[in-house]
Amino acid sequence: MSLLFNDVFLKACRREAVPYTPVWYMRQAGRYQAEYRAIRERYSFFEISHHPEICAEVTRLPVEKLGVDAAILFADIMTPLKARGIKVEIVEGVGPVLSHPIRSGADFAQWKQLDPAHDLPFVLDTVELLHQQLNVPLIGFAGAPFTLASYLIEGGPSKNYHQTKAFMYAHSEEWTALMEDLAEMTLNYLKAQIRAGAQAVQIFDSWVGALSEEDYQVYIAPTMLKIFTELKKTKAVTLYFAAGAGHLLKEWNKLPVDVLSFDWRTSVNDLNRLEITKAVQGNLDPALLLAPQDELETRAKALLDHIGGRPGYIFNLGHGVFPEVKEETLLALTNFVHGYSKEK
Ligand code: CP3
Repeated sequence: MSLLFNDVFLKACRREAVPYTPVWYMRQAGRYQAEYRAIRERYSFFEISHHPEICAEVTRLPVEKLGVDAAILFADIMTPLKARGIKVEIVEGVGPVLSHPIRSGADFAQWKQLDPAHDLPFVLDTVELLHQQLNVPLIGFAGAPFTLASYLIEGGPSKNYHQTKAFMYAHSEEWTALMEDLAEMTLNYLKAQIRAGAQAVQIFDSWVGALSEEDYQVYIAPTMLKIFTELKKTKAVTLYFAAGAGHLLKEWNKLPVDVLSFDWRTSVNDLNRLEITKAVQGNLDPALLLAPQDELETRAKALLDHIGGRPGYIFNLGHGVFPEVKEETLLALTNFVHGYSKEK
């Protein structure tokens, strides 16, 4: 680790005073970058993970080119499932696709649990390498049980998650078993990333906003409570993200997690009304990265004016960067957020 380590992101996660608002972007490593596209011409998505030097390079690219305050490990939420032998491919423009979706408890009863050191040594090697190379914190990550289950049951992306919900309502014992299996995997995986050097971990529950508050309380909250309670015993800060889940923020605020990350559908003006006491991260609409620069800056400024003074704020998008975005746009936005928040 370098002597000039930038810990502004970690300080904001802990709601400590910071000299400026830290920034990073979900999907900050990806197809909008020419260097990434060049690497992807030679390696498939999952092949990149198998080469720690290349995987670390892809992870470092946005830090080096955009000057963001944190790096996020390059991997996918399906990476640990693939390592357990589940047949999943990443289809460009689609997302993860499974050849044998789960139809009943029998489909996962025989799965062996993830042993990260044995099944994903290349991911842990990448984390160790990055721990040496980076001068900003490394965010490790995992998918949350509901979001992983949605891919496992639907077989791919879904609009309304009706098969996942049907399974949840119809087979509640098997659903509980699936949540327990995925929670154990997530914990094994994240603890291994933390031991290897990740200073923060973000749990992506991207699609859990499809559930009502009541269903979240019954079917999901106990699992998330268990995960964050265990993670609290480590030295890493924790972040929890979902899209379209403003109605769940009050529930999330009860969990032992450090940072709540949400999208543009929830106004930051609502945080007081919702009595949110945690650090928060978000929530610029990523579509604004395709708008004229002055519109983008007006909206980023409005966001900082509304929330920038709150202790514990991390600037981010409400969801991932689109491949069509120009790298210059993200660079200008990063500089703007740093500069404007320093002035204030
Ligand atoms: O820079 C980073 O954010 C780190 C790497 C990262 C990826 N996926 C790389 C990736 C992270 C944190 C993820 C998490 C992920 N993967 C989530 C949770 C975050 C979210 O977006 O809600 C989800 C739901 C997935 C599933 C997934 N994987 C999708 C929807 C896609 C996009 C498919 C496409 O082509 O648009 C992927 C593939 C993927 N994961 C890419 C990247 C850079 C594109 C792969 C490519 O090179 O073709």
